[in-house]
Amino acid sequence: MKLLAAGILFIIGVYLVQARNVQSSGKTIYCYFESWTVYRPGNGKFDIEDIDPTLCTHVAFTFLGIQENGSISILDPWESDSDGLNGFQRFVNLKNQNPNLKVIVSMGGWNEMSEKYSEVVADATKRTVLKNEVLAFIQAHKFDGFDFDWEYPARRDSENPEDKQNFVLMLRELKAAFEPHGYILSAAVNGAKRNIDVSYDVPSLSEILDHINVMSYDFHGEFDDYVGHHTLLYSSAIDAEYNNSDWNINDGINYWLELGADPSKINLGIATYARTFTLEDASNTALYAPIKGGGTPGPYTRMDGVLGYNEICELYPNVADIYDADQKVYHKIVGDQWIGYENVASITTKVNYALSKNLGGFMVWSFDTDDFLGICGGGRYPLINAIKTTLATKN
Ligand SMILES: *[C@@H]1O[C@H](CO)[C@@H](O)[C@H](O)[C@H]1NC(C)=O
Ligand SMILES: *[C@@H]1O[C@H](CO)[C@@H](O)[C@H](O)[C@H]1NC(C)=O
Repeated sequence: MKLLAAGILFIIGVYLVQARNVQSSGKTIYCYFESWTVYRPGNGKFDIEDIDPTLCTHVAFTFLGIQENGSISILDPWESDSDGLNGFQRFVNLKNQNPNLKVIVSMGGWNEMSEKYSEVVADATKRTVLKNEVLAFIQAHKFDGFDFDWEYPARRDSENPEDKQNFVLMLRELKAAFEPHGYILSAAVNGAKRNIDVSYDVPSLSEILDHINVMSYDFHGEFDDYVGHHTLLYSSAIDAEYNNSDWNINDGINYWLELGADPSKINLGIATYARTFTLEDASNTALYAPIKGGGTPGPYTRMDGVLGYNEICELYPNVADIYDADQKVYHKIVGDQWIGYENVASITTKVNYALSKNLGGFMVWSFDTDDFLGICGGGRYPLINAIKTTLATKN
């Protein structure tokens, strides 16, 4: 009996130490929930109750959409609304388990494209519609804030150069509406040096936003016609040969800082998913090797060119990691499949990097592709936990 009590006390103690470490590190761990993952099969099915509410300081529900008239669009009413699976409410309820947790709702994402956002922010009446609807939405559902993930101002299907300043107007109006309530305002932004000038007025964004979530991933992928790692921290000599010596996380973060971003507002993007390739010739596995296309889809994410860490560790538990000492990231090669991904070691490197730059913290895309079930032997959420444990050692 005494032994049992001691065991329970020990477990509570460990839990408190972990909880305190995230708090006292003072660093943000801002994690995104992809609401469509509730439809994945088998071990890939991820629902709100799979979120560990003590893992992150902030959690964001993705995504709300926008309509051309400035109104909010509920992209998946069945998953989100109270007459369906009630996702918004269940997400906000995570606060019941961790009152310090900040729950955010995020608008935008890749599939929303850019043009509707461009039209709304260019029109004062539509901006007011959006501001009023967002405020009413977060009040009605009791969120703590709003995240703007427009991909991207003045790019893709909007090439309006005024998007950059109109985005600032939109964010200023949201901020003014939020301030009396203390709501959080963040944005997810591009992390590649060459894409920053066209989309972002960095000093204004840094002044207005509480968090700048830099999407420091997707540098390479099946959208290229060659192999590359999507989360390379630095470039290597071969990148220079291809005029890509600035096409990496470090050059992107440095450029945000150089243009005047407050480092304490920057959250470094951490991807729990891989970008994968099918090699044209399985014997040429080098960076920039020609590809046939994206890698074979995984059983859960079911997309060409993408695999979750959970899929990789289930499918290929015994395939060695190959380290690129220049780019400071790992990949695996399985036949003609080239898999560029993050593991505990490369995430630890990125945490130390962020600390060396005095960044505010980390944004994680996303919960569902970490080994959230703990199937692969590293416990639940080994990647997101690697952020926490590395921070804890610095206290
Ligand atoms: C915008 O359009 C939608 C769909 O037609 C409509 O339901 C909504 O009320 C409109 N919003 C405003 C502010 O007029
Ligand atoms: C790199 O840039 C130089 C100068 O513009 C150009 O001559 C060369 O072809 C480029 N290399 C590649 C691989 O694109």
